Amino acid sequence: MNNTLVLEKIAEALVATGKGILAADESPGTCDKRFDEHGIPKTEEMRRKWRGLLFGTPAVQTALSGVILYDETLRQKADDGTLFPELLKSRGITPGIKVDQGLEPFEGSSEEKVTKGLGALATRLAEYYALGARFAKWRAVITIGTGIPTERCIRENARRLAEYARLCQIAGIVPILEPEVLLDGTHTLARSEEVLTQTLKIVFEEVEKAEVNPKGLILKSSMALPGKESSRQSSGQAGKTATPEEVAKATLSAFTQAVPKTVAGIVFLSGGQTPMEATVRLNEIVVQAKALKAPWPLTFSYSRALQAPVIAEWKGQDGNVASAQAIFKKRVEETALASQGKFTA
Ligand code: G3H
Repeated sequence: MNNTLVLEKIAEALVATGKGILAADESPGTCDKRFDEHGIPKTEEMRRKWRGLLFGTPAVQTALSGVILYDETLRQKADDGTLFPELLKSRGITPGIKVDQGLEPFEGSSEEKVTKGLGALATRLAEYYALGARFAKWRAVITIGTGIPTERCIRENARRLAEYARLCQIAGIVPILEPEVLLDGTHTLARSEEVLTQTLKIVFEEVEKAEVNPKGLILKSSMALPGKESSRQSSGQAGKTATPEEVAKATLSAFTQAVPKTVAGIVFLSGGQTPMEATVRLNEIVVQAKALKAPWPLTFSYSRALQAPVIAEWKGQDGNVASAQAIFKKRVEETALASQGKFTA
């Protein structure tokens, strides 16, 4: 099989019906922040145990197609000495890797950011491929506020996403492009939809310019949601008063206007929604997408919405591993049902 076909097959498998992706690619710093909330010691060994708990969950592979890892995790081993990428592969789950290197200010702005990590990326991708990674993730962050995002900042992020995607495909790795429109802010649902549409249009303009094969890439998107601090958020809960129907309509409107039909699939991030919000909204998006005969497979690539209740149960205690794994399995299965429009709360 030639490289193009291999990439398309990997991408297709990642968004196979009834399956989705676990994002377990938090940096050690972010992982430690989550550990802090539950009094878990912030050590490399505890991070290894945490990832081992998730990846070793019995039968979870029926609903997980892939896992995004961080550099540290790609090199760590399960309790029996198996490297995590090998463990995942043996369970039929494709290992992926986060390759961006975080954010830097855009042209000195304190509000807008661009993602860095293109330096030596080709070399890093070759090593990650050798370590077993078959897909990658690059996250750009788009902030909504007064006068932002600027077209220039979106464009620079899009250029970098496209260049990353080009290098991934050369390396035999499927790129996931994640331009995350943040939930933070006071914006309305309509403004979120507008920014999501503009961002995606610019991203795919740059993807086309860079001659990246859309069939060998996956878009990771936020949902169109009113800002966390918008006036419709009286309870302080993320997106609470936008109904799932409104969220789905706005999100699909953005996709329909901006995402090429040939893109292999679209996966969602949870972005600070509660696990149930992220599940119910995904379900409604898929229901509406089916009615519209949307061209792309849609599924999840959640971190917090899958992991939050699991870490709260585990608390770093060996004695809680089995009960935490049961919660993880249920979370993944519920979300996989939502990815088929079959979830009922
Ligand atoms: O980059 C963000 C992660 O891949 C998804 O995380 O579901 O917690 O937003 P999240």
